Amino acid sequence: MAMLDGKVAIVTGGATGLGRCHALELARLGARVVVNDLGAAADGSGRDEGRARAVCEEIAALGGEAIPHFGDVADWNDSKAMIDLAASKWGDVNILVCNAGFLRDAILFNMTEQDFDAVIRVHLKGHFLAMRHATAYWRQRAKAGNPVYGRIVATSSESAFFAPPGQPNYASAKAGIVSLAMGAAQLMQKYGVTANVIMPRARTRMNDSGPLAAMFKKPEQGFDTFAPENVSPLVAWLASPLSQNVSGQVFVIWGKSVVVASRPRLDKKFDSTAAWTVDSLQGELGPHFEKLEPVKDGFTVPAM
Ligand SMILES: NC(=O)c1ccc[n+]([C@@H]2O[C@H](COP(=O)([O-])OP(=O)(O)OC[C@H]3O[C@@H](n4cnc5c(N)ncnc54)[C@H](O)[C@@H]3O)[C@@H](O)[C@H]2O)c1
Repeated sequence: MAMLDGKVAIVTGGATGLGRCHALELARLGARVVVNDLGAAADGSGRDEGRARAVCEEIAALGGEAIPHFGDVADWNDSKAMIDLAASKWGDVNILVCNAGFLRDAILFNMTEQDFDAVIRVHLKGHFLAMRHATAYWRQRAKAGNPVYGRIVATSSESAFFAPPGQPNYASAKAGIVSLAMGAAQLMQKYGVTANVIMPRARTRMNDSGPLAAMFKKPEQGFDTFAPENVSPLVAWLASPLSQNVSGQVFVIWGKSVVVASRPRLDKKFDSTAAWTVDSLQGELGPHFEKLEPVKDGFTVPAM
């Protein structure tokens, strides 16, 4: 028996790049998969239902079961319909992989309101809606006395740590996704549902041009470090019964490496004997910051 036999999975943005690999890996391990994707271009524009259909056909050709869902992850009704489709077709929802999204990069002072809203909407609201409807579904099942098996895998990015100046919309959305998933992990613990976050590095159309393209390039020979397939086993592990006790964690994943992020820690503490004043703050904080440089490159990240 395969590890995910009998499980029902949903992968948002499952038609290309990482999402397609996740859908194939979950299906290979026995899950039945709803492949959600409206078939957008790399900037989120347009629609092409053929791409989600093609992944379902790939899964069927490998002996698995999949159905497409063409809804917009950031639309309340579409997102609800996606959860309902899985439940009505196969009787349950077990694994939710939130992955859909797109980029519209611009430096802060050039970014348009539309590009900020669109990227926050697809990533942060897209995650919120799917998690909102899935957790309501699991709570309802538990209240009705039915067994609950639930796994949420959210997709953030190291942009949430680096905060690249050219991605104020994307970095903010991806930071928000970490908080959203941490809250879901705490809320859903009593139902046995886990929620974790991945921050992948993979060659997809998101980085096939621009400053990262050279780094992600496929090597002429040897191990293809940034092949998106390298990320999907972690998604499958987090979706499996093996990871029952893993929740509220953040994983950076690429190639042959997985890095577990530590929780942010409060650093140095300053106390005053009376309410702070500007002068007393300067007295305590001034000397501390005199020794430090302003932040230039976000958080410290592991080397490649
Ligand atoms: N590629 C990387 O190195 C990398 C790094 C960090 C995070 N990520 C994240 O991984 C996820 C997958 O990205 P990818 O690199 O595979 O990109 P991709 O463009 O290949 O895949 C994204 C998919 O999402 C779909 N999509 C877009 N808007 C949608 C909507 N409103 N509803 C449903 N589907 C929609 C697209 O049609 C596309 O198939 C994204 O959340 C991305 O931010 C990727």
